[in-house]
Amino acid sequence: MLHLKNDVSFRDFRACCTFIFLLQIQSVGVFLEQSKLICSHQPIVALAGDDVILPCHLEPAISAAHWRVEWTKPGLDPQYVHVHQDGRLLYEIQNPSYNFRTRLFVDELEQGNVSMKIFRVRVSDEGKYRCFIPSVQEEAFVHLSVGSVSSPVIEVTSITSRRVVLQCESKGWYPEPEVLWLDGEGKLLPAGPTETVRGPDGLYTVSSRVTVEKRHSNSFTCRVQQKIINQTRERHIDITGGFIEHPAEDADRWSIVLFLVIFIVVVLFAFLCYSIFFFNLQT
Ligand SMILES: *[C@@H]1O[C@H](CO)[C@@H](O)[C@H](O)[C@H]1NC(C)=O
Ligand SMILES: *[C@@H]1O[C@H](CO)[C@@H](O)[C@H](O)[C@H]1NC(C)=O
Repeated sequence: MLHLKNDVSFRDFRACCTFIFLLQIQSVGVFLEQSKLICSHQPIVALAGDDVILPCHLEPAISAAHWRVEWTKPGLDPQYVHVHQDGRLLYEIQNPSYNFRTRLFVDELEQGNVSMKIFRVRVSDEGKYRCFIPSVQEEAFVHLSVGSVSSPVIEVTSITSRRVVLQCESKGWYPEPEVLWLDGEGKLLPAGPTETVRGPDGLYTVSSRVTVEKRHSNSFTCRVQQKIINQTRERHIDITGGFIEHPAEDADRWSIVLFLVIFIVVVLFAFLCYSIFFFNLQT
């Protein structure tokens, strides 16, 4: 009897312990689960050469000051962009292309802010970044888009009495932009297909031609735009009274050169005659 009673109470005791134990595991679990690592869901967009912040933080805020914080770029080799441990950057394992270009906000780690700044961002920095905090087994991703832009240039490739062919070219774009032609009232002009060439640096050169009637409008705009990076660059050209301003400037320059050449020839010739005349006098 006594033996059985003991047995029962032991079982009760064990069940009770197990219950408390589970409760504790659960509460620890809840505690660990409480802070989530949250990075920007919006892609971060920057232009080549800019400084950029990839925002990530622990929510609710807990200190990450004494934890290892790993920023990596999946697919990169070595993949470590910035690893912070024992209060410093583990420079030895950092991918060399990020040397001296990254920082965490060490003063803000206390508030759970593990954002990383990249200086002088490059087109090759584009992609998905992973932030990982091993102590809480939390990871999150943030996408960086890096654009590159440049101003277009317009050239007159042919002129007849009625028509002018204009060519617009713009080098050094990323991602691939589109080219539009607009008339003086901002209306879209039908243009030929855009030619696109991608250089070894990964940047795009685009060009497009348009044929315009001289009488229609005097002002034309070439617009190069890239929607992902929300960038637009434009160039205007004015064709006034059948003359085109830019080539007219060139023509002026050429007539000055021609005038100078004639002037120098005349001076040299005069000097030569003069010399011969005196030479003849002396002999
Ligand atoms: C983290 O720190 C950076 C740099 O000071 C700041 O721009 C960003 O807003 C901070 N993020 C949060 C969530 O406080
Ligand atoms: C795009 O850029 C223009 C001016 O540069 C700005 O007014 C606009 O808010 C931007 N749009 C987005 C979606 O960033």
